[in-house]
Amino acid sequence: KLRLGILASGRGSNLQAIMDACQNGFIPGEVIIVISDKPGAFALERAKQAGIPVHCLEPKSFDSKELYEGAIADLLAGSEVELVCLAGYMRLVGSTLLEAFQGRIMNIHPALLPSFPGLHGQRDALEYGVKLSGCTVHFVDEGIDTGPIILQAAVPVLDDDTEETLASRILEQEHLLYPQAIKLFAQGRIKVQGRRVKVKAQE
Ligand code: GAR
Repeated sequence: KLRLGILASGRGSNLQAIMDACQNGFIPGEVIIVISDKPGAFALERAKQAGIPVHCLEPKSFDSKELYEGAIADLLAGSEVELVCLAGYMRLVGSTLLEAFQGRIMNIHPALLPSFPGLHGQRDALEYGVKLSGCTVHFVDEGIDTGPIILQAAVPVLDDDTEETLASRILEQEHLLYPQAIKLFAQGRIKVQGRRVKVKAQE
């Protein structure tokens, strides 16, 4: 079983979808540890509810980003985590964490990358006026939402959408897409060639 470590800053609905998919056998994996940068994150409650060890590390209690991420990397490595999943983790991952888990950090973003990276994917898509948006699961690199794309799902943008209605239509797809991408990784079916991620057929 693939050992998963999840980083989350907020509500944790993607964390929930991942925990559920592990629980029901869709993902041949197990959430080993959940780490948040926000003490009040509901994600922490969800993990506790599921009996999963949680940690909260606040960047402000460290002297540098290197030390903060070093502490996270130590926790993840100490739990022998094999894949790190960012699930609403609202920070830029730095070189310390990237180097510790090279090619083994995934993120989900609420837009069709490379459009609308950053903190407000849904709002930016709505303001731009695109008619399709969606979500993207990608590997994390040093840029802002720039790493190799693993899977994407599209949803329509409707004339009467607000940021909230669009976000919830996208979120529904996130909850399907993220477990799917993790499952492929767990099955060893993801191959990265430069920017392109290819999915091997099932044996
Ligand atoms: C999700 O929509 C996720 O795609 C987005 O935050 C939300 C977290 O929801 N992530 C980003 O915008 C990353 N820049 P959740 O806490 O309920 O999973």
